[in-house]
Amino acid sequence: MTRINPGSTIGIMGGGQLGRMLALAAANLGYRCHIFCPDERSPAFQVAHDVTIADYSDEKALTAFAQSVDVATYEFENVPALTAEIVSRETLLRPGARALQVSQDRLHEKDFLTESGVKTAPYVAFESEAELQEAIKKIGRPAVAKTRRFGYDGKGQVMIKNRADIDKVLDVTGGAPAILEGFVNFDREISVVVARSASGDVAAFPVGENVHSNHVLDTTDVPAQINDMVEAKAKVMATRIANSLEYVGVMGVEMFVNDGAGEIIVNEIAPRVHNSGHWTIEGAETSQFEQHIRAICDLPLGPTDARGRVHMKNLLGKEILEFDKYLADPKAHYHHYGKQDPRPGRKMGHVTWVNADED
Ligand SMILES: Nc1ncnc2c1ncn2[C@@H]1O[C@H](COP(=O)(O)OP(=O)(O)O)[C@@H](O)[C@H]1O
Ligand SMILES: [Mg+2]
Repeated sequence: MTRINPGSTIGIMGGGQLGRMLALAAANLGYRCHIFCPDERSPAFQVAHDVTIADYSDEKALTAFAQSVDVATYEFENVPALTAEIVSRETLLRPGARALQVSQDRLHEKDFLTESGVKTAPYVAFESEAELQEAIKKIGRPAVAKTRRFGYDGKGQVMIKNRADIDKVLDVTGGAPAILEGFVNFDREISVVVARSASGDVAAFPVGENVHSNHVLDTTDVPAQINDMVEAKAKVMATRIANSLEYVGVMGVEMFVNDGAGEIIVNEIAPRVHNSGHWTIEGAETSQFEQHIRAICDLPLGPTDARGRVHMKNLLGKEILEFDKYLADPKAHYHHYGKQDPRPGRKMGHVTWVNADED
């Protein structure tokens, strides 16, 4: 229970848009941020008090970074275990190493979720062609093959419907450890963004309903089109996951919902602020970024109520250039992440509308 007071310095590993929005929220509460990222063009550097440009394996740079901060956190789940360990020697790391260990490997993640009493899609680990064939026998088709590590935005995944798809799997996994998951015929995808403070207080935001396009989040709507029972159940599940990890900070829990049965299947957890929580900046009483800072500094958590009906849309690639359109819309809150190159599919910014459909 170590309170980190305003005026202190927060270290953030990772310099993307999540780190940037965390640093902005931290500044509002009177904290300074020191960002550690290997990429000198990191969006978060533009809004930080201090930066370190070094590799995540650079022990000397990591040690100096950790010594310069009062608490360290991260904006991506692939922080190497050794990096986390080096930082932990010198300062508080929140969330802790266990959250990283569980979420970095889809097999560990699914095992952990199952042990926590949360339902997942059926899954089997495989590496070789022979193991894949065995896995397909157990899971059936359709199924989804996913590499255990380093997958994001659908990368490292193959949907297996027919025999021909099976041949693609090893090309994508390259024989790396992978899992085969049963395909879930869901009605909708939802997520719960939940915070747990260092003192163990937990607060979940209202459930968001997510639409993906080409495996990348496109929109989030709040409230989700689910009944009160499913909403409550989803929050209970996310809370149970945060508690069983003794998690500190904000985490995103992605879920599939089957409306008819009122069934929820947990897809994955992200030990960080989450894209499906961006709506909270203008749409909730406390933003997920402020909530993360409150949680890791052991301040009281803020209220999570939505301020109405909220719609968030990601701006991918050149969509970011439609600046004038959004500025002309009195209900649009436009966010530009300060990235230079609008490559197709790249997350460049987002827009949020609160109660816009009532006008
Ligand atoms: N078992 C599954 N059944 C049905 N759809 C799935 C399944 N696994 C993943 N998907 C779809 O693919 C998306 C990305 O998969 P996910 O496991 O969340 O990986 P990523 O790390 O790339 O976000 C999901 O949001 C969902 O739309
Ligand atoms: Mg996902």
